[in-house]
Amino acid sequence: MSLQLSVREQIEQEIRQRGPMPFSRYMQICLYDPSSGYYSRNAEQFGKAGDFYTSSDVHAVYGRLLARQFDEIWRALDRPVEIEILELGPGRGLFARDVLDWCDKKFHDFFAALTYTLEESSPALRTKLQETLRAHLDAGRAAVPEERPSLAHRFSDGYPAKHDQIPEGRPTGLCRTLQPETPLIVFANEFFDALPVEILGTAGKLHLALEDNRLRETWLPPLAEELDFLDRYGVQPEEGERIEVPMAAQRWAQQIAQSIPCGVLLIIDYGYTRNEQLAGRYRGTLMAYRHHSASPDPYQAPGEQDLTAHVNFTALATACEQEGMQVENLLTQSQFLMGIGERNQFADAFEDCQIPQERAKVALQLKHLVTPAGMGENFQVLIASHGIDPKRIAGLSGLSFTGGSRLSAFSYQLSVKAIVVVPVGTWSLKTDS
Ligand SMILES: C[S@@+](CC[C@H](N)C(=O)[O-])C[C@H]1O[C@@H](n2cnc3c(N)ncnc32)[C@H](O)[C@@H]1O
Repeated sequence: MSLQLSVREQIEQEIRQRGPMPFSRYMQICLYDPSSGYYSRNAEQFGKAGDFYTSSDVHAVYGRLLARQFDEIWRALDRPVEIEILELGPGRGLFARDVLDWCDKKFHDFFAALTYTLEESSPALRTKLQETLRAHLDAGRAAVPEERPSLAHRFSDGYPAKHDQIPEGRPTGLCRTLQPETPLIVFANEFFDALPVEILGTAGKLHLALEDNRLRETWLPPLAEELDFLDRYGVQPEEGERIEVPMAAQRWAQQIAQSIPCGVLLIIDYGYTRNEQLAGRYRGTLMAYRHHSASPDPYQAPGEQDLTAHVNFTALATACEQEGMQVENLLTQSQFLMGIGERNQFADAFEDCQIPQERAKVALQLKHLVTPAGMGENFQVLIASHGIDPKRIAGLSGLSFTGGSRLSAFSYQLSVKAIVVVPVGTWSLKTDS
C-alpha cells in the first residue's frame, strides 16, 4: 500500500531531491498538486462554507450581464454560425451555468451558435462541473475536456529547466472544442490571480530550503528574464520589499493572444498597473485565504489555504498588444457592469423577483458587485480583441463608461480603493537574509 504524502512532506521530499525550491513551485504544489493540492483535493473552496467568494457566488446577474456582453460580441463579429467561449479556471461552473441558462432564455440565435468549453485543472472541480452543467453537457452545448498531462504545469515548474526535463510534445495552443479558426471569446474570472508567482527581494529570488529538517527561506540569484520583467512592467524591490514576478501569467497571456484568430479576451481580476507600483502601491500582494480570513503568511497551512497575488495588468496588456491584439482602457468592474446593465435598468437582475422583499435582496447583491465598498472597484476588466472592427468593439455596452482615447499599456491609470500593504516580517518561516 503506498502512503499518500501530505503537501508539506512532498515539498520537503522535492527539496531533498532537487535542491532549494523556487517560491512558484511551492505555490504550485500547495494549490495544484494533483492529489493533495488546495484546488485538487475537493470542491469546497468557494462560497459561505468555503474560504472566499467570487462574483458568481453573489448572484446570477453577474453571468447574465456577461451573457448580454457575449451576445453583443457575437453580433460585432457579424453573427458567425459558430462561436466558442473558452473559460479558464471555471471552478465549480456557476458562471458558465448562469451564462448558458441566460443565453438559452434570452439570446436564442447566439445560443444556437455557441459552444462553451471549460478548462479546469482540478480533478475535483472537473467532477463538480459535470454536476453543475449536466443539462448543457448532455445537449452538447458545453464541454469539459479531460486534463492534458502537463496542463497544470504547462509552462515550467519553477526550477531552472534542464535539457532532459523539457517534456516532449508540450501542449501548445488553447484547449479548444471547435476548430482553431472558429471565432473565440476567452473569459477568465479570478484565474490569473491563482497562478504561481516568483518573489524577488533585494537579496535575490525567494527559494525554500531545508535546515535541520525544517523549511526555511533562502534567496538565490534571479533569472535575467525575471529582472527584465520587473524593469519593463513592474518595479525592482527596495529594502524589505517582496515583489511578485508573475511569469506563468505572462506566458498564459502570450499563448492566449496567439491563439485568438478572431475574437475577444476578457479578464476580470484584482490587480494593479506599473504606474501604481511606481507610485508606491501594490508592492507585494501575495495573500493566503482560509475560512474568509486573509493572512499575508503563505506558510501557515500549505495545501489548506488559498494563495493568491494581484495581477499585473500592464504586463498582460502588453503581452496582448505584442501579439497584435487591440487592448481597451482598463475598466473597473463597476464601470463595466454598469455599462452593460444600465441600458435596461438591470432587468437581468430582477426578472425572477416575485415580491418586493426579493427585489430588495437582489438590489443588495447587485450593489455588492458594483459599488466601491463591494467588488466594484477592487476588480478590473481587461478587454483585448483581434480581427474585429475597433469601432464595433468601442460600441460594446460594457465599454460605454470608458474614457476618450485609448491608453497605451504603459500609461494606465486607475482609481484605486484597495491598497494592499503586506507588513514585512509576517511570513512565518525563518529567512537567511
Ligand atoms: C480563484 S479560482 C476562480 C474560479 C472561478 N473562475 C470563479 O470566479 O469562481 C481559480 C480557478 O482556476 C483553476 N486553475 C488554476 N490553474 C489552472 C490551469 N493551469 N488550468 C486550468 N485551471 C486552472 C483553479 O483550479 C480554480 O478553479
